[in-house]
Amino acid sequence: MIKIYIGMSADLLHPGHLNIIHQARKILDEQGGGKLIIGLLTDKAIASYKRLPYMTWEQRKIVVENVKGVSEVIPQETLDYVPNLLKIKPNYVLHGDDWKTGIQASTRQHIIEVMSEWGGKVIDIPYTQGISSTNLNKILKEVGTTPEIRCQRLKRLIENKDIVRICEAHNGLSGLIVENTFVNNNGKKEEFDGIWISSLTQSAAKGKPDIGYLDTTTRLIGMQDILDVTTKPIIYDGDNGGPAEHFVFTVRALEREGVSAIIIEDKTGLKKNSLFGTEVEQTQDTKESFAEKIRAGKQAQITPYFMIFARIESLILEQGMEDAIERAKTYLDAGADGIMIHSRKKEFDEVKEFARQYNELPNRKPLIVVPSSYNQVTEEELIENGINIVIYANHLLRAAYPAMVTTAETILRNHRCKEASEEYCMKIKDIITLIPGAK
Ligand code: SPV
Ligand code: MG
Repeated sequence: MIKIYIGMSADLLHPGHLNIIHQARKILDEQGGGKLIIGLLTDKAIASYKRLPYMTWEQRKIVVENVKGVSEVIPQETLDYVPNLLKIKPNYVLHGDDWKTGIQASTRQHIIEVMSEWGGKVIDIPYTQGISSTNLNKILKEVGTTPEIRCQRLKRLIENKDIVRICEAHNGLSGLIVENTFVNNNGKKEEFDGIWISSLTQSAAKGKPDIGYLDTTTRLIGMQDILDVTTKPIIYDGDNGGPAEHFVFTVRALEREGVSAIIIEDKTGLKKNSLFGTEVEQTQDTKESFAEKIRAGKQAQITPYFMIFARIESLILEQGMEDAIERAKTYLDAGADGIMIHSRKKEFDEVKEFARQYNELPNRKPLIVVPSSYNQVTEEELIENGINIVIYANHLLRAAYPAMVTTAETILRNHRCKEASEEYCMKIKDIITLIPGAK
C-alpha cells in the first residue's frame, strides 16, 4: 500500500495546507489508493524553533483529522522528520516548495537522502501565493487575546519549553517591546515568552522608591496599559502579598485581568528591595505564617490556571541553604505552584546548589530565577540545572534611564537639541508613526 507523509503544525490551517493534502490525495488516487499520514508537530517540537502554537496539539489534531483525504494523524515529536520517516517508511513526502531555499533547504536534502534508502521520494508542491501563516499570525496579534487565553498560556509554555523567558515591562511602550521584539538566531526565532510586572521598575517609572508605596490598585491600573497592547502571559510581582486578608483580593483581581501568576516573597514589615540584602533591615516571615498566606491565596482563586509562586529570601538574608530548602518544602506542601529562589551573589553557584537540592524534592514544581546580579549565567546553563523560568527583571528601564540622561546632558551642553537629536534620538518620522493608528 502506498503511504504519503506530510509534516505540519496546522495551527492556522489555510488553503496552502489544503492544497498539499489535495495533491497527496490525487497521487494516491492515481496509484490505486493508499494512506495519507499527517505528522502533526507537537507543541514541544514547534516551541523548539518558534512561538508556541495558538491551539494545543489535541485541538489541532481534531481539525486536521477532519480534513477530507487525511487517513491518520500522528505526533511528530521533533522538528526533524527522520524519526517518523524511519518508522513509517513512506513512499512520498510532500512539502511546499518554499523549503527548497533558505534555512529549510538542508532539512529537505537530508530527508531526500533518508527516503532514498527505501526508494521513497520527496515531492515539492508549488507554494500557494497570497496566503501565509506569518501574515495570519500578524492579524491574530492585532485582534488581541482574552483573559482566559492569556492566563492559560504560561502553564502551556512551562510544559513545552526548556526554559520560559520573561522580561520586565513598566508601561505600554516597554510592553510593546517585550511583545514584539524578536531575533533570528541561526534560523530559530527567539523572543520573550512573557512579561514581568516588577515592583521595582513600576515604582521607579513613577519616580517612587520600591518600598510598597504604590498600592495594588495603582499598580493594576498601570498594568492596564501593558494589557492593552500585548498578548503574552504576565507574571505579577506581588511583593509579600500583604496580609492574607488583602492577598485574596489581589489574587482574584489578577485572575480577572488574565494574569497567569503572582510571585510573593516571604518577608514582613516595610518592603525593601531584596538586592539591598542585609544592608537594610529586612525581616523574613516564619515559614508557617507564609504557608498560611499561600493556602489562603490558593483557596481564593477561581480557575485552575492561575498560579501562585513562592519566593524564598533565605539566601538574600543569609539564612543558609538548609533554611531555603526547608522553606521550599513547606511552601510546596501549602500549594505553591512553583518556587522563585532569589540571590544577590555575583556567581551562579549559590542558586545552582539550591537547584540541585530542590530538583530532588519529590513534589518539585517549576523553579524560577532572577539573574540580576549573577548576570553572566546563560539560559543554556539554567536549563542544564533544571530551571524552568528566567526573569530579566529590570533591564528595559535600566537601559532607558541612562539613554535619557545622556540626551538631557547633550542638550544642556550644546544649548540646542541638534546634537542630541542626531546622536541619541530616533527620527521624528519614526516616533510619530511608531504606534499604529497615529495617522
Ligand atoms: C522586582 O523586579 O521588583 C523584583 C526583583 O522583585 S528584585 O528587584 O531583584 O527584587
Ligand atoms: Mg519587586
